[in-house]
This record gives sequence, structure tokens and C-alpha cells, in this order.
Amino acid sequence: MSLAIGLDVGTSGTKGIAVDAEGQVVASALEEYPLLSPKPNWAEQDPAEWKGAAIKVLSRLAVDLGPCAVDVKGLGLTGQMHGSVFLDADNQVLRPAILWCDQRTAAQCDAITEKVGAERLIEMVCNPALTGFTAPKILWLRDNEPEVYERVKRVLLPKDYIRYELTGEFATDVADASGTLLFDVRNRTWHTELMSMLDIPSDFMPRAYEGPEVTGTLTPGVANATGLPAGIPVVAGGGDQAAGGVGCGIVRTGVISSTVGTSGVVFAFADEVSLDPQGRVHTFCHAVPGKWHVMGVVLSAGGSLRWFRDALCRDEIAVAAETGADPYEYITAAADRAPLGAEGLTFLPYLTGERTPHKDPHAKGAFIGLSLRHDKAHMARAVLEGVAFAMRDSLEIIREMGVPIEQVRASGGGARSEVWRRIQTDVNNAPLVLINVDEGPAYGAALLATVATGMYASVEEACDATIRVVDSWEPDAGRVRQYDDWFAEYQAAYNALAPGFRRVGQML
Ligand code: XUL
Repeated sequence: MSLAIGLDVGTSGTKGIAVDAEGQVVASALEEYPLLSPKPNWAEQDPAEWKGAAIKVLSRLAVDLGPCAVDVKGLGLTGQMHGSVFLDADNQVLRPAILWCDQRTAAQCDAITEKVGAERLIEMVCNPALTGFTAPKILWLRDNEPEVYERVKRVLLPKDYIRYELTGEFATDVADASGTLLFDVRNRTWHTELMSMLDIPSDFMPRAYEGPEVTGTLTPGVANATGLPAGIPVVAGGGDQAAGGVGCGIVRTGVISSTVGTSGVVFAFADEVSLDPQGRVHTFCHAVPGKWHVMGVVLSAGGSLRWFRDALCRDEIAVAAETGADPYEYITAAADRAPLGAEGLTFLPYLTGERTPHKDPHAKGAFIGLSLRHDKAHMARAVLEGVAFAMRDSLEIIREMGVPIEQVRASGGGARSEVWRRIQTDVNNAPLVLINVDEGPAYGAALLATVATGMYASVEEACDATIRVVDSWEPDAGRVRQYDDWFAEYQAAYNALAPGFRRVGQML
């Protein structure tokens, strides 16, 4: 028997799975850790938490696998993208990592755009300067913590710090590197000219590999600590979106994925580099060698529903604790009782600013149109619809770019709700399907490891052998028309409120 492990260094926790040659998940483990927000708009994590979690997760997989642990042929890495781990000359972590959802770098983004020019920047790295990306974080450190910056010798993405801890090697993959704003996405290599324009030493960044390439092997120390055999090849893998794309089988044109986790991501495969001239969606290298992907990112998708649950649904949480159900079941059932359009109640899900399409760190969440008629069920429905509208914004840009959309594969926690799936189908006006696996990026990382270690000949072959559609929904023409109208109102609401969000952002 041959097995592959996928390890996902996520934002809420690190998840590991072991997969057999047929793609069956034979073991899985999760370790959670906190997200630190020492100031408004800041999001940080201690890389030592990731390391502790990774070792625990791998140890639990080794225990579950028992004697079969010797059959692990490869380990693929994935994780939250864009975060910055700053290391000194002794490879020690210098400060907490600044994460993808951190919004502190607006001034550095403006400075990059001014220095390089908005159009030139998109020509060089296929993307605009966005607050979540890595390069502005490096400049923020130089501007705000110069004594720390002076000691920086390397900058690693989150999963690549774990790669260093597991193998002693410095490496990344082309998909994760694409989200740094320092990578020549077209030519799949670091953009040394841009790095020198920004005065960022090119040796800060590690070598970038294609997703299914081996970057090192598990050290004897880690083998000892986890119970896995030493010498297991550790594969480049991919940033969580590219690996998630592989894990959903998004390896050919026409099929796209819509993933509702904390963030919401609309992800489309691209054979060639395909750009939105305004840079509203990201164009990154795919974890499939020689291919690309475009994606729109909604920062608070599932995060909006979690906020709604925690802030306003104490009763549902209490009842769920008694019945053993999930509070989201009560919340989405209430949403289902409210009529389409929530009788004029609109929710903007910009609780942590927004990337696609607004590129606006000042954007805020809002309920608009409240009246005496509205109750919690309307509000729950407005949240589900608002998130679906936010993701349609991305879908529309991808459609405008000429990328064909024949099928949308739903994944992530949001895909578990039947109500939310139906709302998305009608809002998108595109067939929605569920596939047989819902393990997200960890599954894609494991598949990349199966390819790197010769269990499959290509990423496409690995996906074809393991992933299949198990359920589907078709849009309803009447509901599609109604949602088109509400979508227009949703877009108008942000446009009307945006100047106020910016003013308030500057007051805080
Ligand atoms: C992708 C992004 C997020 C993080 C979270 O661009 O910022 O999806 O990778 O996991």
C-alpha cells in the first residue's frame, strides 16, 4: 500500500490527512490555535504555534496509521497564503507573523503603486498591491520596526516555515510565491527587477518549485518527534487556494470552485496567463505545473456567518449545546423561512475590509434597509445572500475575462448548508455541484505528493482517479431574475457607503 500525507497550515488550525492510492482518506487530525489581533485591523500568529500543531498532527497521523506509517511515500504542504515569517541570521523567528487578513499596510501599498505605477505593476507581477500580500508587509516592517527589519535575513510564507522545521530546507512553491507581489507570475520565477526597485534583497526569498516537486525530506529529529519514518520526501505543494483547487479537481477550463471558509474564494483554472486589467481578481500560478489560475477573494464569507452566530445567536448556541446539533443548522433553517431578498434587507459582508472587487481596506460590514418587519431570520438570510452576492462580484469579473463557467463546485464549511447552496446557485445563475471529497487544501496537497512520488503520472490523472461529482443543483429562472435585481441593489449600497467607510477609517 502507498500513502500520501497532506498538511495544511491554516488560519484557525493545522490539519493533516493521510490518503491512499485510491484517494480514500485513511487518517486525519486537526490542532487549533488562536488568531491574535493586538490592534484594530491587525492579524498575527506565532509561528511556534504552527510548529507545535504540525508536530502534534503528524504524531496523531502516525499513531492512527500504526504499522502502515512506513507506507507514507510523500508529504505535501499547503497553508494560508501571503503571511510573513521574518527569520534572522540564525533562522530564529523575529516577531509574530503578519497574516493574509491583516489590513495595516494601506500606506505601503500606496507607496508601491506610486513608485512602480499601477499599470506597470500589473504588467510585472500580474497583480496590484493589496494589503494582504507579502511585499507591503516587508515594507511595513522596514517603516515601522526598523530595528527588527535590520536583522531580517529571510522571509518565509507560513507553510514554508513549517517546511523548514520539517526538512531544514528553504523552499516555496510557485502558487504561494505568486501571492507575495514579488513573483514574476508569467515566467514562474522571482521578479528580481521589482525587488530591487523596492529595495528588497532578492536573497530574502527561497527557491520556488512547481507544486509536485520534492523540496527535501523529513529530518531524523522530526521523525523521532512524530513517529513517522525519516526521509519521507516533502513536496512543494501549494498555497491553500491552489492546493484547494487541486483538491476540488479544478485542473481544466470550464470547472470553477466556490469555497466558503473564513474567506470566500471563487477559483478558475487558466491554461494561459489571464489578467483583469484593473487587477480586481488575482492571477497566480497554479499548483498544476505550467498552468495558472484566477481567483476572487471575499475576506469575510463564512467569517460573516460566524460573526452573526457569535454576536447575535446566543439562544441558538445554547439550544445546540443541549441538543448536540450545530448552531448553524438553526441559523440556516431560520434563513430558509425568510423570503428571497429578505424583504429588502441587504447585508454587506465587509467585516475585515474587502479585496475582490473593491480592494478597499476601509470597507465595513452593514445591514441596510432594516424595518420593523425584520427579525433574526431575515438577518440570517441577508447574511447568506450578502456573502453569495460578494462572491458573484468575483464570478462576474471572471466571466468578463472570457473564462468559461460551465460548473461551479461548492466546497468549504459553507457547502454543508443546503440553503446556502441553493442561494448560491440562483445568485450565480450557474449549476452548482458537490464532489465526493471535502477535505479542502490538505487533500490537494496530498494529491500533489502522490504525483511527486510517482503514484500518479500527473496532477490531472490524480484528480481524475479520485474526484467525482455526487450531487448537483440547477438555477431557477424566476429566482435568478429576482436575485439579479437584488444584486444591483447590493452593488449600489457599497458604492453609496464607500466614501463614508473611508472617512471613518481615517478617523480610527
Ligand atoms: C488567498 C487568501 C486566503 C488565505 C486564507 O489569497 O488570502 O484565502 O490563503 O487561507
